[in-house]
Amino acid sequence: MTLVQKNKAIFLDRDGNVIHDKGAIISNEQVVFYEGVFESLKKLQDAGYLLFMISNQMCIATGDATIAEVDAVNDYIDCVLKEHDIVIKDWYICPHHPDDNCLCRKPKKYFIDKAVAEYNLDLSKSFIIGDHPSDVKTAEFNSMTGLYVLTGHGAKHLDLLDANELVFHNINTATQWILKHPNSIADLEAEIVEGVERLKAGEAVALPTETVYGLGADAFNVDAVKKIFTIKGRPMNNPLIVHVANYEQVKYLTAEIPDVAKKLMDAFWPGPLTIILPKLDIVPDFVTANNPTVAIRMPNNRWALKLIADADTPLAAPSANAFGCTSPTTAEHVENQLQNKCFVIDGGASRVGVESTVITLTEDIPKILRFGGITQEQIAEIIGRVTSGENKVHRNFESPGMLAGHYAPNTQLVICEDVEQIKKDFNSNDYAIMLLQDDKGIRVKNKIILSSEGNLVEAAVNLYSSMRYLDTLNCKKIVTHKFPNYGLGLAINDRLKRAETGSKK
Ligand code: TXA
Ligand code: MG
Repeated sequence: MTLVQKNKAIFLDRDGNVIHDKGAIISNEQVVFYEGVFESLKKLQDAGYLLFMISNQMCIATGDATIAEVDAVNDYIDCVLKEHDIVIKDWYICPHHPDDNCLCRKPKKYFIDKAVAEYNLDLSKSFIIGDHPSDVKTAEFNSMTGLYVLTGHGAKHLDLLDANELVFHNINTATQWILKHPNSIADLEAEIVEGVERLKAGEAVALPTETVYGLGADAFNVDAVKKIFTIKGRPMNNPLIVHVANYEQVKYLTAEIPDVAKKLMDAFWPGPLTIILPKLDIVPDFVTANNPTVAIRMPNNRWALKLIADADTPLAAPSANAFGCTSPTTAEHVENQLQNKCFVIDGGASRVGVESTVITLTEDIPKILRFGGITQEQIAEIIGRVTSGENKVHRNFESPGMLAGHYAPNTQLVICEDVEQIKKDFNSNDYAIMLLQDDKGIRVKNKIILSSEGNLVEAAVNLYSSMRYLDTLNCKKIVTHKFPNYGLGLAINDRLKRAETGSKK
């Protein structure tokens, strides 16, 4: 008997993933491919993956498009892909409405079963890439790996996505991850095993968290922690956040958890809130920069939690960027910036996108020292009164997130009062423009919109990667505007201000 080797496949969602999501697309002129998508699909095909398109086209059921119109557009997309030597093996289109209870709508198995039968697929080596939680659900129901992208509706629906899912900025970064992890989660698990070994051997390891990537080391091993500073090129008098995987590990760091802290932990842990509490003597002074307090956080990322739990020690970890530069929200950002100086665990993109909120409970009224992923409004809802401002109690306090110049790109960044000022002073191709929402009046070549609907949560997810991208374009300046001063806007404005100061030449 000869064994026929099974095929591995990639199921692609069409809208918001391969082409821009524009609602019902009924003519070829509406089709806009994402930048880099041809190169990515070609790479996947060359790596031996069969490519399929799997798409819910509810617009047919709602009457916004006819089957013939959708078919014609798909034929056109197929042709364009063929011109780039990319073959879509089959197109699987569900024309139904969710209320129809059809068999073929994602996340149901119908089309995947069909593909398996017809193309002899090994689903354990196959992936779905898509911008809707139902795409990763489809993967889960079929023992595949689902990769969630932030393009299309991805950023908007993030709150519906389980915290454990792998998230990517776009199809290109998802592709890179697949090529690096052909055995999918098993390969990521192997990275964790290696990370744990290295941490135990006193090395620093870069790890994904929901806020930004961190550069972690055993918090109780001062020599290991010193390596973080060397790798980052960061002055040694800055206190670090200590990351824990569970409440047991909190007990190694602080003696007593006051009620306010308990309430905050219950509400926001694991998550982007760092709490400053009095430290135990055993916590090295080096980690806290001789402060009598320690900053503690439990990150909401499956891989970070596994790494910390398996290393069996809290990890001191600042953001994994070179000192003063933009924080990394992908493994690739870390690799580019720290240049092979450390082992990096690649868990996809950070899904919050700005650092944790730092709150101190060592003053009379709880005080936010750094705005971040949990908003002041969210905190006030749990504990009532909360202020914000500078840290008064601690000694030796020059913490990096609080430095005036930080998070800075190489290109000079300018913050305008509002979009009107950009229109007046910077409406030219000399500048790279970063806007919260689109404004048709700004017609420049390099324009990035952080959220089509002006949503600050979405804007935060895209902030640092957009700044990095704009920084590669060699424009005269990166120009943006003040963001709304509430919710995540406070954290975004804070980072922009520091980036502006830090980027002044
Ligand atoms: O989201 C985050 O917090 C990321 C990820 C990796 O977890 N980490 C991070 O670390 O941003 P880093 O080192 O870039 O920022 C540490 C911040 C400082 O800005 C400072 O405000 C605060 O933590 N911090 C640390 N120890 C402190 C202490 N003992 N007292 C007051 N603030 C402290
Ligand atoms: Mg989609």
